[in-house]
Amino acid sequence: MNILVLGSGGREHTFAYKIAQSKLCNKLFVAPGNAGTAGIATNIDISVTDFMAIKDVVLRESIDMVVVGPEDPLVQGISDFFTKDDQLKNVIVIGPSKEGAQLEGSKEYAKEFLFRHNIPTAAYQSFTATTVEEGKQFLETLQAPYVLKADGLAAGKGVLILEDIQEAKAELENMLTNKKFGAASEKVVIEEFLDGIELSVFVLTDGKNYVTLPTAKDYKRIGEGDTGLNTGGMGAISPVPFADDTFMAKIENQVIKPTVDGLAKENIDYKGFIFIGLIKVGDDPKVIEYNVRMGDPETEVVLPRIKTDLVTLFKHVGDQSLDTIDIELDPRSATTVMTVSGGYPEAYDKGKEITGIDTITDSIVFQAGTKIDGDKVVTNGGRVIAITSLDEDFRIALQKSYQSVEKLNFDKMYYRKDLGFDL
Ligand code: AMP
Ligand code: GLY
Repeated sequence: MNILVLGSGGREHTFAYKIAQSKLCNKLFVAPGNAGTAGIATNIDISVTDFMAIKDVVLRESIDMVVVGPEDPLVQGISDFFTKDDQLKNVIVIGPSKEGAQLEGSKEYAKEFLFRHNIPTAAYQSFTATTVEEGKQFLETLQAPYVLKADGLAAGKGVLILEDIQEAKAELENMLTNKKFGAASEKVVIEEFLDGIELSVFVLTDGKNYVTLPTAKDYKRIGEGDTGLNTGGMGAISPVPFADDTFMAKIENQVIKPTVDGLAKENIDYKGFIFIGLIKVGDDPKVIEYNVRMGDPETEVVLPRIKTDLVTLFKHVGDQSLDTIDIELDPRSATTVMTVSGGYPEAYDKGKEITGIDTITDSIVFQAGTKIDGDKVVTNGGRVIAITSLDEDFRIALQKSYQSVEKLNFDKMYYRKDLGFDL
């Protein structure tokens, strides 16, 4: 098969790495890709939301399968674009329809779905510019901290957690009236605060059947001890040590199964990943969000633990036969440490030479914000390279990742040295 991966991060390098190992893969393309994907696939310099340019590539290169990395093309309807086009309708797209992608594209849609299917989640109400005053009154009925969520996609920045009620009211006003997050905050979901420890579960579904993929935990804050600004993710560990069999059975019965059954019951065309953000409250899982794609950097620890051929799994997604395959996982732990450009997640420089990549032998190097510049690899984003290691003990895997990271170098390179501190 000829396969196209859409995206340019560490997640997409990881997809390309696994797909390139498959006997079923003939030619592999990544659009737009990075310096890492250039080493194992052909990069094509087009945008992930330029559907016409993607169509041209798919026809020109006889692509049989498209794996969609980020959420934007999904929320904009890339999957429907393929199914509605006579020339493209037989291409397998790994990623849900526009309707299914609303689970990530609209917080209110996700909450309504969760409540319709009795899936445990925080209590909530949603408000718009015309109901700001009602929103403030609703805040009065809650206890601190206050959770405000912009309804739409806000590049991971749309959730505010505030201790002070006056500040919460002011931010609500800011989001709704002053459009703090643009169109994404024309509607705001106010949610009950859930106190507990976070984890994520990943599911691959064909819309009827599913396989549960490894769990993972990411480290979102820039600073050690989970302090400072939110980032896309500074590292991840899989599996999550506290997600034992009893807890996983609850997640399966109370969350995963009703989610997939709910999609099927509502006739929502969904062939792809579901990334479920959970908080463990006491002994019980509660959903805080759905994403309709894999996470980054979670992919860098989840995919290396999947032993089953990834393209085979995707083919079963394509013909809705995931019930006929058992997934085999590597029981070892995987860890990834993300190196970032100094200044990230605020302003940072690009174009800095990266050295040491080829000297890393005990870990897998997944490139994110990198590009080729002449005979050099240079930085091209905030998150630059993720270093993944495997071991029976996650602490030793982490040590390996840290030893490998020390072999890398670029101007103002930064990474968190405390991953796993909370486990
Ligand atoms: P989300 O984009 O919905 O995942 O929210 C971003 C982050 O906010 C999550 O990773 C949690 O740390 C936190 N969060 C979201 N919803 C809640 C909630 N109801 N209670 C406590 N923390 C939350
Ligand atoms: N690491 C979080 C995400 O991909 O959304």
